[in-house]
Amino acid sequence: MKILVTGGLGFIGSHTVVELQNEGFEVVIIDDCSNATEKVLDGIVAITGKLPLFEKLDLKERDKVESFFKKHDDIEGVIHFAASKAVGESVEKPLLYYENNIGTLVYILKELSQKAKSSFIFSSSCTVYGQADQMPITEDAPVKVAESPYGNTKQIGEEIIADTCKVTPSLNAIALRYFNPMGAHPSVEIGELPVGVPQNLVPFITQTAVGMRKELSVFGDDYPTEDGTCVRDYIHVVDLAKAHVVALKRLLDSKNDSNYEVFNVGTGTGSTVLQVINSFEKVSGQKLNYKIVARRAGDITTAYADTTKANAILGWKAQSTLDQAMESAWNWEQKIRK
Ligand code: WQD
Repeated sequence: MKILVTGGLGFIGSHTVVELQNEGFEVVIIDDCSNATEKVLDGIVAITGKLPLFEKLDLKERDKVESFFKKHDDIEGVIHFAASKAVGESVEKPLLYYENNIGTLVYILKELSQKAKSSFIFSSSCTVYGQADQMPITEDAPVKVAESPYGNTKQIGEEIIADTCKVTPSLNAIALRYFNPMGAHPSVEIGELPVGVPQNLVPFITQTAVGMRKELSVFGDDYPTEDGTCVRDYIHVVDLAKAHVVALKRLLDSKNDSNYEVFNVGTGTGSTVLQVINSFEKVSGQKLNYKIVARRAGDITTAYADTTKANAILGWKAQSTLDQAMESAWNWEQKIRK
């Protein structure tokens, strides 16, 4: 069964390609390599023994998307990762984000709407909840006004899919709302490759530890949490990748209750920034150079998932602990800096 993975050379995309191939799916990747390299294919082959089909293509080029779907008319499912994801950049360049993240989604949905049956998995984000009023966050928590154009593209993306599903019974879609992905494949053949200075906590920690960054700034220790630092739900990227495969199978097997569903994908456990640093120090056996600085604009205090729905309906549960995810992130960082 042929599955298209857009953005399949990226961090979450590449781990999902591995899990799909492990389950026997035939994968075709589209990636424009704007934030990833073809070398990732070597890692995928090293783990799975199989080279996925790959087409370097910019999804903004509508005619090329059309010809791609004509050529691969046997695609039965699409997992759509391809998107721009830097929150700060999205504030500077909103139209780039709306074009990259919304325009391309529309083109793909137009193609899928013409099929007799299609299955679509969308990369959404816990960012749609903003600062939720209750923890843990269930899927019924209200969607709050987005803090950034990036966050808005995820909210609008979900709405576009929901509206399209309403009038297209042949289209079956699931939006997965990710919490904070981290880590790398245990084989250390693939992992996260941030471009420039990492914005996210875990790659910043590991890059500091290998000496690429002088020190980590911890953004604020005066939040109303256990130790004053913000709380997030850090999920191992392999667990997250597996959630995509079970969600896709649900659609392919027509087990879905409605043709548009939403699931949180997290561990259900919140960790503070200092607990994450502590985990790093434990698994690496080395001290991290960090200092407490002012709060970062736009940060929410606490976000962790209620995963009851995904556990019960998808039969999926995150398996890795924070320490295991951290160990894989650290092994990966050491490997790529050798
Ligand atoms: C985690 C915690 C920071 C860096 C992410 C994505 C965003 C969206 C939601 C996808 C926070 C603290 C960080 C540093 C720090 N995801 N921190 N020093 O803010 O939860 O956002 O999830 O749609 O795009 O980025 O993740 O990794 O940036 O921060 O103290 O140098 O670490 O303040 O509390 P966040 P993050």
